[in-house]
Amino acid sequence: MSEASRRDYSLTGAESALAVERGLVEAEWFRPPIESQRLHALQQRNNHRAAVDTILWLALLMAFGYLAWMAWPSWWAVPAFAVYGALYGGAGDSRWHECGHGTAFRSKRLNDIVYYLASFMLLRQPTLWRWSHVRHHTDTIIVGRDPEIVFPRPTSPLGVIATFVPLSKVPQALWRTAKHAAGRIDTDAADFIPVDELGKLKWESRVYIAIIAGASAWSLLAWTPLPVLYIGLPTIYGAWLMVFFALTQHAGLREDVLDHRLNSRTVYMNPILRFLYSNMNYHVEHHIFPTVPYYALPALHDEVKKHLAPASRSTFAAYREIFSAMRKQWQDSSFDLPRPDVPSINGKVNKDDVVKNDDANGADVTSACANDGGGGVTSRHRIDTGVTVWAGDTHDGMVDLGAADMPMGTSRRIDRGDNTYALHRVNDSQEFYLTDGLCTHGRAHLAEGVLDGCVIECPKHNGCFDLSSGAPTRLPATASLTRYEVTVRNGRIVSDLEETR
Ligand code: FES
Repeated sequence: MSEASRRDYSLTGAESALAVERGLVEAEWFRPPIESQRLHALQQRNNHRAAVDTILWLALLMAFGYLAWMAWPSWWAVPAFAVYGALYGGAGDSRWHECGHGTAFRSKRLNDIVYYLASFMLLRQPTLWRWSHVRHHTDTIIVGRDPEIVFPRPTSPLGVIATFVPLSKVPQALWRTAKHAAGRIDTDAADFIPVDELGKLKWESRVYIAIIAGASAWSLLAWTPLPVLYIGLPTIYGAWLMVFFALTQHAGLREDVLDHRLNSRTVYMNPILRFLYSNMNYHVEHHIFPTVPYYALPALHDEVKKHLAPASRSTFAAYREIFSAMRKQWQDSSFDLPRPDVPSINGKVNKDDVVKNDDANGADVTSACANDGGGGVTSRHRIDTGVTVWAGDTHDGMVDLGAADMPMGTSRRIDRGDNTYALHRVNDSQEFYLTDGLCTHGRAHLAEGVLDGCVIECPKHNGCFDLSSGAPTRLPATASLTRYEVTVRNGRIVSDLEETR
């Protein structure tokens, strides 16, 4: 494979500028239609369900750690450590992922605790990877933009095998952590992490280095590998399970498309694999609806599958497809797996649709967005993507926003001219809040997000806002939401659309 045919996957190279030019950056992506009440039900979080799964995972981890301890130094310790490592460096990945999105538990604190624990297990600096994953969801498999493209084309068969035992990747990650601990932030990280988050990154890196150094020193002083076999090394010897799952997500599929049905893969897996992988085998659904928690993904799949490409029938079938694509891409890096089975919406065909996509209503949704990815925003946009209430008549300077019979705990999108708003009715209360309709981090419609108490969660990257003040309460949202006064008159919700301070 010649160097000339290799693309530049760095985030600061020529491909990055090209992606911007082609309208692939922070663009609007395909989203299948779904009834809003049904989506609302699927988005609900369940502390109990997530706690049961987390406790079972940790209990298994401790049980196999204990078995390894008891069996040491006999050969029986090898299989026990193998399972311990797979649970630590493999199953830890999907826990990291779900809690990073903040969707596993309803409680923010519980999500954060598990996120930090799993981040350490995978040797991922929490702040760096939180922002990296935001970028992955914004520009999924867009070359020059997505920092989480695992297999840059062309990937050699040896390269794939090497990924299963990351003997070079983990030392690289350790070296990167050490550099960040010393305050030397690399250019890729600086590309997607806001400047005011860099201090946190340095401190997290220092804690990681201290723990790894402590375990290593303990091993040396006690002259036994046991401490590092429990802390640190499982990230390497258990990584095979993480790679086994991760490979199915996007490998071999298309680059530079604005349709997750073309660059992501859903695979049917058995219940044991789905437990270890937290249902991330429903990967297309997760990318399109990242506010839906992992335990609701099978139901979401049933709801939208008629709009998606058929799922891979099994993990084996997925791997056959991946290796066949990689073999062809090794010869010709521009080879794309055909996806003739992706259903079209309103007669629009997606097959050769590289830059443009069409939403459920057939509207062109590719207009550029001037978001800097770090919280600075943008002008308002109106995008016809879903159910909309158009603001009605004006009386005495007050605009009619519709009937006040909205169900509690729901949000409604309101469009007026080129402006879009979101009207929220919080749970167990008569209170209404009117805010800007688009998230301050990007251009997602907040009315499609999750309303929990007085907090609205953005449907795109799970950023949150307190409706009573407009203040952001969860990253990546960093700028406040504009609010407007609303009142109820004669059963109608009305507003003068003046900003509330
Ligand atoms: Fe990113 Fe809303 S668009 S958090």
